[in-house]
Amino acid sequence: MMTNFKKKILITGGAGFIGSHVIRLFVNKYPDYHIINLDKLTYAGNLANLKDIETKPNYTFVKGDIVDGNFMADLFNKHTIDGVIHLAAESHVDRSIANPMEFIMTNIVGTVNLLNAAKSSWKDNFSNKRFYHISTDEVYGSLSNEGFFTESTSYSPNSPYSASKASSDHLVRAYYHTYQLPIVISNCSNNYGSHQFPEKLIPLMIHNIKNNKPLPVYGKGENIRDWLFVEDHASAIDIIFHKGKVAETYNIGGNNELKNIDLIYLLCSLMDKKLHKPKDSSMKLITYVKDRAGHDLRYAIDSSKLQKELGWQPSLKFEEGLEKTVDWYLANEKWLNEVTSGAYQNYYTNQYEKR
Ligand code: NAD
Ligand code: TYD
Repeated sequence: MMTNFKKKILITGGAGFIGSHVIRLFVNKYPDYHIINLDKLTYAGNLANLKDIETKPNYTFVKGDIVDGNFMADLFNKHTIDGVIHLAAESHVDRSIANPMEFIMTNIVGTVNLLNAAKSSWKDNFSNKRFYHISTDEVYGSLSNEGFFTESTSYSPNSPYSASKASSDHLVRAYYHTYQLPIVISNCSNNYGSHQFPEKLIPLMIHNIKNNKPLPVYGKGENIRDWLFVEDHASAIDIIFHKGKVAETYNIGGNNELKNIDLIYLLCSLMDKKLHKPKDSSMKLITYVKDRAGHDLRYAIDSSKLQKELGWQPSLKFEEGLEKTVDWYLANEKWLNEVTSGAYQNYYTNQYEKR
């Protein structure tokens, strides 16, 4: 095994949806980096997401909880870590409405533990170090039908999830201003793609269409999200990690706004074709249900700073990305069946049966 790695990078939350794409990209693209994946393996963390790279010599998995400060300090003592890419989080808005405390612990306390562990192990010698915090556009709150979130939009989070992420962003920024910890932050729009847990809109709808179950549309389905293919988010993270300026924020988005209901129509007609169902049959499963509490109307990202300053571009059109995503879920029935057995059934019943 190669021991003289050029850099040791700690990626947190690497067994989750976006984290697993980032790990795959970094492990394959940078054989001279040692990638450590730290993950608690909550319901959203799944080592099956990383089967294709788990035996690579530059990859190590560590099971652990970022809320455990002593554990984090030990990890930094054991490894000479050069960079952190922090993705571990509780990430689903509906769960944050039902149970905010987990979000406060992991997203806020966990992030501070990580900042403290990095700061104390780097002993205030920050040359060639980097702490990269991955955040969301939801910290900016909700837009009306016009305008875009830029890096200077004021924070105005509305859900316990977005408030916990906003809080962690502020703490990360404070560690730069107070201690000069070399941080960088990015705020990304809604991701979609393979390996996303089927509590989020797109995989939940794919799973339900496949099983002929109702498609629960919150409110009138008129809320708008700006969708980005997850591999394009991973490529932005690669660029920002290597070239982003210390203490800066970068917005990442697909410039691809869709009303939920229009997205669901698209998915229905695509799935009808893929499953050889009669035209318009999936559409009949659409069921309007009680709206989400405090439901943000519209998110839309202006990512021109990232495009102009660092040269990032999204690579896929939404229709291509959506087809790739549907194909992946249809080809990976075992993965979908495994994650939707057990605890998922209870979650689904609590979340949807009473709506
Ligand atoms: P996810 O829920 O799929 O994965 C989160 C991962 O974090 C899981 O593997 C989980 O086991 C791990 N984790 C949770 N609590 C932990 C803890 N206490 N200690 C260690 N590991 C823990 O989330 P995702 O959708 O991949 O999101 C990853 C990051 O990107 C999050 O920070 C999220 O806020 C941000 N983000 C997500 C989106 C999106 O559309 N999904 C958009 C923008 C930003
Ligand atoms: P989601 O995937 O939970 O992402 P976020 O809330 O972080 O944007 O939801 C995307 C949109 O889809 C959001 O407006 C809520 C809506 N939605 C439904 O209409 N039905 C559902 O079952 C889910 C999970 C989401």
